Amino acid sequence: MSESFPEGADIYNNFCATCHLASGEGIPNAFPPINKSNWLKEKRAATIKAVKYGLNGNIEVNGVEYNSLMPSMELTDEEVKNVLNYIFYAWDNNVEKPATLAEVREVKE
Ligand code: HEC
Repeated sequence: MSESFPEGADIYNNFCATCHLASGEGIPNAFPPINKSNWLKEKRAATIKAVKYGLNGNIEVNGVEYNSLMPSMELTDEEVKNVLNYIFYAWDNNVEKPATLAEVREVKE
């Protein structure tokens, strides 16, 4: 069953779509895709951490290497949870279970 979390859509469109584009397709060799990303699917804790605190260094997404920087967007834990749940179930994505506020709070830098 596919869920959807429309409350995160505004945050996605305001904060994330600039780089990852409206449908999460990213820009090859610059911004990794969010839609159908193996990274997002396999690295749940790292995904939460990236959205909460930003991300830099070498990562591989769907077989392509990125070594760039995603700034922290300084979202509240509630906003992090909402945008995560939006991307977890948007487009072709469908992760095992939605993120909770407790789970977001637990992830430390
Ligand atoms: C300024 C551009 C920029 C913005 C804005 C941005 N990102 Fe990113 N994002 C990146 C880059 C660059 C990487 C790869 C970083 C690296 O190479 O270590 C990345 C990596 C990721 C990843 C892990 C890799 C993947 O594609 O699965 C996720 C998940 C992600 N971003 C989600 C988000 C979300 C959600 C937002 C909005 C809250 C957001 N990003 C906003 C540039 C951005």
